[in-house]
This record gives sequence, structure tokens and C-alpha cells, in this order.
Amino acid sequence: MAGRPSQEFEAEVVVVGSGIAGLSFALKAAEHARVLLLTKKNAAESNTNYAQGGIACVTSSEDSAELHIRDTMESGAGLCRERVVREVVQDGPARVAELVALGVKFTERKNGSQQEPDLGKEAGHSKRRVLHAGDITGRELEKALLAAVRASPQIRVREDIVAIDLVTTKKMKMKGPNRVVGLYVLDCATQRVVAISAKVVVLATGGCGKCYLYTTNPGIATGDGVAMAYRAGVAIANMEFVQFHPTCLFHPSAPSFLISEALRGEGGLVVNTKGEDFTKKTDPRGSLAPRDIVARAIDEEMKESGAVCVYLDIRSKGSDFLEKRFPAITSTLRGLGIDPAKQPIPVVPAAHYQCGGIPAELNGTTELQGLWALGEVACTGLHGANRLASNSLLEALVMAHRAAGSLPHYLKKSVARVSIPDWKEGKAHDADEMVVITHNWKEIRQLMWDYVGIARTTKRLRRAQSRLRLLLEEVQEFYWNFRVTGDLLELRNLALCAALIVESSLARKESRGLNANADYPKLLKAPKDTVIRAGSIR
Ligand code: FAD
Ligand code: SIN
Repeated sequence: MAGRPSQEFEAEVVVVGSGIAGLSFALKAAEHARVLLLTKKNAAESNTNYAQGGIACVTSSEDSAELHIRDTMESGAGLCRERVVREVVQDGPARVAELVALGVKFTERKNGSQQEPDLGKEAGHSKRRVLHAGDITGRELEKALLAAVRASPQIRVREDIVAIDLVTTKKMKMKGPNRVVGLYVLDCATQRVVAISAKVVVLATGGCGKCYLYTTNPGIATGDGVAMAYRAGVAIANMEFVQFHPTCLFHPSAPSFLISEALRGEGGLVVNTKGEDFTKKTDPRGSLAPRDIVARAIDEEMKESGAVCVYLDIRSKGSDFLEKRFPAITSTLRGLGIDPAKQPIPVVPAAHYQCGGIPAELNGTTELQGLWALGEVACTGLHGANRLASNSLLEALVMAHRAAGSLPHYLKKSVARVSIPDWKEGKAHDADEMVVITHNWKEIRQLMWDYVGIARTTKRLRRAQSRLRLLLEEVQEFYWNFRVTGDLLELRNLALCAALIVESSLARKESRGLNANADYPKLLKAPKDTVIRAGSIR
């Protein structure tokens, strides 16, 4: 069924995604325009909602912007853009102050008679600088931002709407430079596909952790924004840099539950089954070395010993401390029969963060006019080859602020909205075939885990490449012949993102940051972004 644009879907500015990037932008953009914010599940469901550690930001007199910049660049292994790093770090305090004004309550501690933020420490940071709300920072951020967005008369939030594809003037065979004029979305409540015309479409759709069998990400993280942009003709950068978090809980009942790096900041140690602190063998910083290094050390240890997991030992801190500093983690673990004050926590690395994505400036603008990208979906040059812990929420805040600041000028110069043609779709709906979607989904996640994980070789990448080619063909056939469903749309995006990760990893003939390839163990002299041009994967 096709749907004409109805009034409920009209807006100059359409934001896709209700995590920190989409919500922060919508709030500020509402000062200049009416905003339609679309999100594919309930509005709180996002990677943001699960953030634990906090926001890296220089607030202490013992810290400095220069140190934060240095730590970010070191972690990024030669691929950070220094200008971007400087601007994000320097904007941080102002953006965090806005969150506090909005009602976000960061944990504080007493210093003499003064209250000051309680700063967490995480891997790769030379100072304590992570503001947090206990260990549920993301939930607090999401709650405050959503409440403010819902209170704004200028913003309409629509849940259960899946963005499908961008509509461009090129696709519509219109003259002039290519630009985005709107998008098609699936309204899950009615199963109708609706065309929306807009002057600017802002993708704030998060990452693609679900490409992997084991991930800390929730189900929404299927790389929809990157896939949509790529299909619209945008080149995608640095997708090989998938960050694996070293310490995801190893437990069948909670396979995506994160054990925050902040535990290691407070003295937790990664140990093997014999209780040995093996990470020191690869880096003197041991458990607090940057994530790529710790995750690789764990991967090697598990392969050498045949163990199914390693452990995070924080028994030294005792019950009182753990209950106060990490209440949610402690109670979740106890609910699963693991008392972190009495026993080491079983952990494994899991896919966590997409460092690459849609190349974007800090104000979200991309190479395609009318398309903006904010937050994890974007690749600005802040993270380089390996993101420094807790820099992602910060980047999203800074980007959202700058994008909203650019909006009045953009709207003034942008051209009139365009009427978008009806959606044409396949009619078939075959229940027997629908099960193939689940099979393909599982196959992709398994093969990405087996062949495109922490330690890569060219042979394994090629194996993944040829399997993905077949899967992509099969998914495309489904897409054209069947009525679209949310699951099919996600599978299509997941398959494309998986292929982008593989192509990018094959293109990088060196081991840098998160891309470790045994066939190219050395660093090349001149660091370069990997860019996959539109059309090379179909
Ligand atoms: P998200 O918060 O992921 O939001 C994406 C939104 O887009 C969602 O609402 C989703 O439903 C919607 N969406 C996606 N596709 C579509 C579509 N096709 N149509 C409609 N809607 C769509 N970073 C830190 O800096 N500090 C931390 O402490 C921290 N802890 C983390 C802990 C966990 C467990 C995880 C998973 C990540 C953590 N990160 C942390 C990373 C950080 O949370 C994310 O990078 C950040 O929240 C991304 O924000 P975002 O707004 O870009 O995307
Ligand atoms: C964590 O709390 O370990 C996650 C922090 C991050 O991903 O930045």
C-alpha cells in the first residue's frame, strides 16, 4: 500500500533518531523551525539509554583541555582530525552545563564544604574526567532530553516509524545539483509506507553493533543511517574501525550487558582463569590501556588458553563501595547470582561502537545537500582509528549544538519543498519465505563474528566478502518482491553495513587502532581514511 504525505508527517526539518544526538538537535532546532522527530521503536530505546560510564569533559582544575586532546589523539592512533578534537573538547564544558540546566543530575561528591562532580576514570584517560550519573548516565540523559522534547510545541515525536530511504533529486531525475528532498518511512502501526518531503533530513540513527553476534548494543543498532546514506550516493568512511568493548558480561541471560570501563578506573583488573593480570604483558597500562589494546589482549588470551571468558576482578573495593558507585551493575549481577564483591565477573569482548560512518562536519553537514548526520552515525574525525572512552556522548552534544546553530542560515537559502512520488512496493507476503529473514540475519551476525572480529586476516575477510555478496543478493530480491517489514528493512541495512566493514577492512593494508590484520601487521607511514565510494557494493 502506498501513502500520500499527510499533515501529521509534514515538516521542514525531519530528524531520524531519538538518542542523545537526535533529541539534543531537535530541542535546539525547535527555536528556528517546526521539527518532526521519527524513531523506530519507543522513543527511549537507543544506545544512549544504555550508556554507563558517562561524558568525558574537562571540569577539574587538575585537568586541562590539552590533556583531553592529547588522550583523544593518542587513542585515535594517528587518524584523528586535530581541529575537530580541539573544538569538541573545548565546547564540552558549555554543553555539559546545558544538560545540568535541563535537569540532568550528575553524581557529586564533597570536597571540604564544596560539592563538585564526582569524576570517573576510564581507559586511555590520563585524568579523572568522566561526569556520570551513577552507572545509569544514559538513562538519565535520555529521560531529561525526552521530557524537554515532549514539552516543546514545535516538535512532534512519532514512534514506531522506520525510515527506509532518502529521496534525492537525482533519483527523481530532477535537474541541478543532487540534494535530499525527503524520505520514505514505514509506519509500523498501519504498515503503510509514507513519503515525507523536507528541506533537511537529519540522520541521528546511531551505530551498527548488531552486525555482530555478540554486542553491547540494543536491537535498534542496525546501521540504518549509514546504509540509507550509502544508497543515496554518499561515500562512507572508516567502517573497519569497529570498537569492541573489552568487558561485556558473559552470561546467557544477559548477553549484551555492559560492565563499564569505570570499574577498571576504580581498580578492577582483567584477569585470566588462573587469576593472572595478563594485560600487563602487552601494555604497561594493563587493564587501563586503550580499548583496542585490552580487547586484543583478551582475545589472544582466550584463544591461547581455550577459555570461554576472562574475568573482571573488583573484589578489592568491597560491597559498600560497589553498591554506591555502581548500583545498577551490582544489582543486575546479584540478580544473576554473581556477587562482584565476592567473585570475579565473567566477561568477554563484544562489538560496541562504530567509529566510522557518514563523513560529516561538526555541524552535521555532509557531501550531500539536505542530508545531515549527527552522533554515532557520523564520522567527523574525532575518534580516528579508536574512540577514547566517553567521548561519544560529548561528540553528539557538540554536533547537535552546531547543527542547530547552522539551521536558520540553511533554511533561508534552501529551495522549496518537492512533492515526492508514491511508494511502489512488492505485493507478495509469503510466511514460509519470511523465516529466511531470520536465518540471514543470524548468518550475517555469526560470519561477522567469526571472520571480521578483533583479529583479522585477509583470507577470512575474503571469505566474509564472498558470503556477504550472496546474502546481499538474496536480501535485495526480497526487498524488491515482498512487502517491506521492519525486520526486512533492518536486515537490508545490516547486510550493507557488514559489507562496508569488510570492504573497508580489506582496503586498509596495515594494522592501526581497531583494525588488526595479521597479514599487514605494520603501520603505514601516512595515515589515511578509508573511503568506500557509492556504487562499489550493491
Ligand atoms: P542512539 O542513541 O543509538 O540513537 C539512535 C536512534 O535512532 C534510536 O532512537 C533508534 O531507534 C533510531 N533509529 C535508528 N534507525 C532508525 C530508522 N531507520 N528509523 C527511525 N529511527 C531509527 N558513550 C559514551 O560517551 N559514554 C558512555 O558511557 C557510553 N556507554 C555506552 C554503553 C553501552 C551499553 C553502549 C551500547 C554504548 C555506550 N556509549 C557510551 C556509546 C554511546 O552511548 C552512543 O555512541 C551514543 O549514545 C549514540 O547516540 P546517538 O544519538 O548517535 O544514537
Ligand atoms: C563504559 O561505560 O565502559 C562505556 C563507555 C563508552 O563506551 O564510552
